[in-house]
Amino acid sequence: MAEYINPDYVPEPEKVNTKKGLEGAVIDTSSVSKVNADTNTLMYRGYPVQDLAELCRFEEVAYLMYTGELPNKGQLADFEKKERGYRDITKANLDVIRLLPKKCHPMDSIRTATSFLGAEDERIWDNSPATDLDKAIRMLAKIPTMIAADYRFKKGLDFIPPNKELSIAENFFHMCFGKVPQKEVVKAFDVSLILYAEHSFNASTFTSRVVASTGSDIYSATVAGIGALKGPLHGGANEQVMHMMIEIADPKKAEQWMIDALAKKRKVMGFGHRVYKSGDSRVPTMKKYAMSMAKVVNEPKWMQMYESLEKVMVEKKKIYPNLDFPAGPAYYMMGFEIDFFTPIFVMARTTGWSAHIMEQAANNRIIRPLSEYIGAPQRKVQPLSER
Ligand code: COA
Repeated sequence: MAEYINPDYVPEPEKVNTKKGLEGAVIDTSSVSKVNADTNTLMYRGYPVQDLAELCRFEEVAYLMYTGELPNKGQLADFEKKERGYRDITKANLDVIRLLPKKCHPMDSIRTATSFLGAEDERIWDNSPATDLDKAIRMLAKIPTMIAADYRFKKGLDFIPPNKELSIAENFFHMCFGKVPQKEVVKAFDVSLILYAEHSFNASTFTSRVVASTGSDIYSATVAGIGALKGPLHGGANEQVMHMMIEIADPKKAEQWMIDALAKKRKVMGFGHRVYKSGDSRVPTMKKYAMSMAKVVNEPKWMQMYESLEKVMVEKKKIYPNLDFPAGPAYYMMGFEIDFFTPIFVMARTTGWSAHIMEQAANNRIIRPLSEYIGAPQRKVQPLSER
């Protein structure tokens, strides 16, 4: 037995107040965004997200995320020139995406392709603020190209190269479908990117900050964030919402479906939130744009179903929809395959992750929490011959 172990030592039971799921734990300061559940508001760098969605394009919000300020015209022109110049991906990265199993989830594809992007960057260990900003813009530009390439390959179609004359939202439609849809559809998509861009210390952002806190690089931290976002309790919920709506099929059946689901204590995707308890501040904006798009594409059924499901859940449980609830049917009406909904979330959230990773690096202390031990008490190791 090791000499330093006292065989008679019986530890005191630990008296700690564990915070399951880190609920209510404030673990650092941040100037990126503020979720205020009491006033049902969300601010990015001090700006209400609803106003950003109405008045800005996603590119302006990305600039805001990275620098802390909205760009003026000249700054935006320079930023967009740089982002558009970075949109192409290498043939090697394209081959990696092409070689992935056709049936793998697109979140696995974008996680792998982003990891490859990091491996291609010779500045991988240069975590200086200027290089990290450049890497963040590189991801902002290339992640949509990588997702669209995967979209095309999974359907057995040819890759469509990015068009540098188009905005991020327009170009994504172009790369997936070979055309840009009506302006209302593009606006609804752009709004979804703005609303999905950032949400304080949620699971994926916290994950990427933990990785950044070890001194690792921005690509690795982003890849970790993608892994966390994939889960159905986080970003994966927007896909589950649409699967649920397809299962219900008919808006007239939605009310009874929800009553049955609640009776069976089923967790209904797209509802509930750890922080917001009386409604997600992003939902009214997304709902408004999903509604107006439903008219343009002449597909009223999903938003009718939305209204019925929401009504029953709020009446019976006082649990409100989160952003994934309107985003799911919105992406479906835009024509995207369901398993691409969460990768689209990645396109948006790369901005928030990068802002947090850079903030963590600028004022870092390694993140290392504690746990309350509930395992076996200290015991003797029996040699194998005696077990
Ligand atoms: N459907 C049905 N009941 C729900 C619910 C939902 N979507 N979300 C929460 N509840 C209920 C729980 O069953 C629990 O009830 P109980 O106290 O009777 O056991 C209560 O509300 C509290 O929920 P809890 O799971 O403890 O909340 P949480 O803060 O740990 O989890 C979420 C938050 C978001 C993970 C959770 O609401 C959820 O799983 N929602 C569905 C997935 C989703 O939409 N995720 C996207 C989040 S943006």
